[in-house]
This record gives sequence, structure tokens and C-alpha cells, in this order.
Amino acid sequence: MQDACEGGVIRKLWVTETAQYGDHLLRLDQESRRNRFGGAVSDEFIRNYVEVSLGLDAVIHAFFVDGELRGAAELRPLGSAFAHEAEAAFSIETPWQSQGVGSALLERTLLAARNRGYRLLHMACLAENRRMQRLARKFDAELTFDFGSVVGEVESAHPTPGSVWREIVGDTHGFATAILDVQSRLWRMSA
Ligand SMILES: CC(C)(COP(=O)(O)OP(=O)(O)OC[C@H]1O[C@@H](n2cnc3c(N)ncnc32)[C@H](O)[C@@H]1OP(=O)(O)O)[C@@H](O)C(=O)NCCC(=O)NCCS
Repeated sequence: MQDACEGGVIRKLWVTETAQYGDHLLRLDQESRRNRFGGAVSDEFIRNYVEVSLGLDAVIHAFFVDGELRGAAELRPLGSAFAHEAEAAFSIETPWQSQGVGSALLERTLLAARNRGYRLLHMACLAENRRMQRLARKFDAELTFDFGSVVGEVESAHPTPGSVWREIVGDTHGFATAILDVQSRLWRMSA
């Protein structure tokens, strides 16, 4: 479903929006970038990462404010095409952190994970990233410590007709809003 959150909306990212996703990741401040990627990475690394990552069965939910991508949650299967395990990663630009956006993105990501039959969701984050750990715990994550990083493993339940329907309704709503957004931009340009 499309959430209205802190003056923005959350919907799935389109493949055509790869550049926006890259720009968002490049805007992360140093600490957020380090937390997102588990260490310091260069601009070039991020550009390559975005090129590759969107082609790998990733489901990306994005948080938009006034048409600008300010937060994202990535969900990607680990291993084969019929994987039951997936990995999730989150990024929210500093002015929009600690306002519930991460919680809303995680909720959407868990629904998508459930509907794809992922039973185990890995969330890798640095040991000092208390906010991410707290966020994971809110959703009953079980956390185990390993090599200075935290891996949150969330057991996601089986899909139900209701959970699949909630995702479909959300996507449709997001699509309609996105079309409106494009139209209003066109109107502004032609005015
Ligand atoms: C980590 C991140 C995804 C969390 O999203 P967020 O929108 O900032 O978090 P929320 O506002 O939803 O808050 C999540 C929980 O953390 C708590 N929290 C907020 N700020 C905090 C802080 N500075 N320290 C500790 N806990 C904090 C909130 O109170 C909330 O818990 P509660 O609902 O029980 O009160 C976001 O801050 C971010 O993108 N950070 C940079 C990149 C990153 O760390 N990615 C994670 C690695 S994959």
C-alpha cells in the first residue's frame, strides 16, 4: 500500500528511476553512507552498485518528498531463483531520519518478503548502528552478533491472499499517484 509518511509517499521504485536512486545514495552523509554499505565507499562504487543492483531481482521501496527520492529499502533474494532467504538494506537521508520513515519502509519490505516466500531476512548493519537495531527489534527481529556486525533475522510468515492483495493495492495506488506526478510536472513545464 502507499503510505503517506512525514509529508512524503512510499511506493515501489521503477526501473526507469535508477538515476534517482543513485543520486539519493550519493547524497547520504558520510556516516549514513558508511552505515548503509557497512564501511566507507566511493562515489564510483555507488554508481556501479546501482547499475548492477537494480537488475538482480531487487524490490526497492522508495520514499519520495515533492517527487525527490529521500529514502529507500532494498530487498534482494540470496542465492538461487527459488531462494527462501533475502537481504534487506535501508537508506534515509539525514533530515528525514528518526521520523518513522525507516519503520514504514521496513513494514513494506516485510510484506514483500512474505509474499515472495522468503522465510529468512538478513539485515546486515554495523554494531554501533543502534537505530537500525532498534528498528529491527520493533519487528521482532532476532539479533545475533558476528564479526562486529549485527545480523537481524526476521522470520517472515507465509503469504496469504490478504497479504498479496495488500501489496497489489499498494502498487496500483502508487502507480496512479506517480502518473499524476508526471502529469503535473508536464503541466508545469507547458504552463
Ligand atoms: C537506520 C535507519 C534506516 C532508521 O530509519 P529511521 O527512519 O531513521 O528510523 P525510525 O524513525 O523509523 O526509528 C526506528 C527506531 O529507532 C529509534 N531511534 C531513532 N533515532 C535513534 C537514535 N539516534 N538512536 C537510537 N535509536 C533511535 C526510534 O525511536 C525508533 O524506535 P521506536 O519506534 O521504538 O521509538 C535510518 O536512520 C538510516 O537510513 N540511516 C543511515 C543508513 C543506515 O544506517 N542503514 C541501515 C543499514 S542497512
